[in-house]
Amino acid sequence: MRNASHTLFFAAVAASATLLSSCDVGLPAGRTPHREGNRLDMGDQLKLKPQRKDLFGTRPTGLMEPQPGTVAVGETPYPYAQNEADKAGAELKNPLEPTPAVLAHGKFVYENVCIACHGPKGAGDGTVTALFPKPPSLMTQKVREWPDGQLFHRPMRGQNSMPSHARQVDQHDAWSVVLWIREMEKSEPVAPETAPSPGGKS
Ligand code: HEC
Repeated sequence: MRNASHTLFFAAVAASATLLSSCDVGLPAGRTPHREGNRLDMGDQLKLKPQRKDLFGTRPTGLMEPQPGTVAVGETPYPYAQNEADKAGAELKNPLEPTPAVLAHGKFVYENVCIACHGPKGAGDGTVTALFPKPPSLMTQKVREWPDGQLFHRPMRGQNSMPSHARQVDQHDAWSVVLWIREMEKSEPVAPETAPSPGGKS
């Protein structure tokens, strides 16, 4: 009797499993074998994955190109390409005056963003230079003679091994930091120019 009821039970399980796997309820089957038939697997839902190509394999679907002519909220377009530092220097004018508030902000930005590489006084002796290419001093005669716009251009676009900092500092931050570098120039001695780090000309 016991054996008979067991047999009946297993037969019922087998029958319902066959029934379930054969009936198509219109949902996609699991993409991996162990998910087969698991209709509630959230991993199988249709969704945009930022790094995954779209159906035609052309471009990542989650990263749509901005529509031409549109600007993200809070973003100010910066029209100069990386190799246009001279042009930026000739055309851009620092919109800020070195008021105590602006200098305090420039110091704050410098000491939060630039100091790790450029060092507390711009000498290029920041703590990460033990591992990262050592930047040249910001106190050289060359940099002192750069117009503000050319100095502003570096955090916006980067230079050789220095990446762009446009995601960390906005344009107000960058103009303030330029004025803070000018302020440091007043008390720091002129530093000799050193060869640029490996990776290209400065
Ligand atoms: C991750 C390290 C790093 C950070 C952070 C960094 N820089 Fe640099 N910076 C460098 C390196 C390295 C160079 C030299 C690049 C080269 O070889 O041309 C450089 C070059 C420069 C130059 C050009 C100097 C010259 O004589 O050519 C300026 C100006 C400058 N940085 C400003 C800034 C400012 C302002 C900030 C902060 C907003 C900043 N950097 C943050 C690493 C950094």
